[in-house]
Amino acid sequence: MTTTAPSAPPPSMRLRELVFGAACAAAVRAAARLGVADALGEAPTTVEDLAAAVKTEPKPLRRLLRALSCYGVFTERPDGTIAHTDMSRLLREDDPHSLRYISLWCTEPWTWDAWPKLDEAVRTGRNVVQDLYGKEFFTYLNEDAPESADVFNRAMTTSSEQSARDVAALLDLSGAASVADIGGGQGHVVASLLDKYPSMHGSLLDLPRVVENAVPRLRPGGDLAGRARIVPGDARVSVPVKADVYVIKNILEWDDESTAQLLRNVIEAGGPGARVVVIENLVDDTPSMRFSTAMDLLLLLNVGGAKHTTDSMTGRLTAAGLSIDGIAPVNPYLHAFDCHVPG
Ligand SMILES: C[S@@+](CC[C@H](N)C(=O)[O-])C[C@H]1O[C@@H](n2cnc3c(N)ncnc32)[C@H](O)[C@@H]1O
Repeated sequence: MTTTAPSAPPPSMRLRELVFGAACAAAVRAAARLGVADALGEAPTTVEDLAAAVKTEPKPLRRLLRALSCYGVFTERPDGTIAHTDMSRLLREDDPHSLRYISLWCTEPWTWDAWPKLDEAVRTGRNVVQDLYGKEFFTYLNEDAPESADVFNRAMTTSSEQSARDVAALLDLSGAASVADIGGGQGHVVASLLDKYPSMHGSLLDLPRVVENAVPRLRPGGDLAGRARIVPGDARVSVPVKADVYVIKNILEWDDESTAQLLRNVIEAGGPGARVVVIENLVDDTPSMRFSTAMDLLLLLNVGGAKHTTDSMTGRLTAAGLSIDGIAPVNPYLHAFDCHVPG
């Protein structure tokens, strides 16, 4: 029997499906961990051959794949063989748009500890990680969950590489001589912008242990090193970088005081006329609201943070003293708030 994604089930079934969301997430995670998508080539394959390749029992593997194919992840053909779909290909590690590490990150063991406490987080407005593990989320991750920390770094790298291309494609920085990415992670956005503008100089500011792993192209010996400056530091303490354009991407998701302090530091560093581009996932006015709102809840659980609405972002930027010149989609899940420091 062929399984296909069902269309528009009645509300009573839809709610039943929703409360089994954990089964769906766990199935995607299991397939990613087993490497099923990597083992399946372009030709349809029997479950027995796939099971041998990924070292599982064939019968439970067929059950896993049948569950996933209901959601359009893999497909079971009339002859019982398994083939890829557009979504299952994204679980391959070598796919140029791979979501393998994002899928693992969103389903890491700590998430299964935290989700049942969502009612508590909603009641208190605070993260649940402190109570669960006795320490702040990133401290827990780096000290107690090194495998999850590794998955996080790989997931961030994948998503940064992919969105950096979109950011560079959107931003017109003609006329600017320098750009600084504040909390720029490993520097994918800086590298993409230096590629686009061959005479531009770029700075990457992030926490010391993060910039230690900046992309090799920006580091001494890299092809962009002559135009790149790596600045280890805490942007809430100071932004010791003068640039024509500041990019702040997926940073302003923490508490309001940190957001206000970072914006103050950027405004002080850039001075009147500096351009400030804030890039965020929004929880409104976006075609990816199911994803963004889920990330918003996960941020509440782990760091007590939040994704913004257009209004809440606009409010924070103007309260900090920035003038907003425009808001534009970068891709289906990111928006850019293009601002300047008034003269
Ligand atoms: C969600 S990641 C976004 C990274 C990058 N901007 C991107 O979009 O791919 C958040 C980044 O903020 C950095 N960060 C957190 N606190 C920071 C601080 N106080 N000063 C500078 N960077 C910070 C983290 O190290 C991390 O690289």
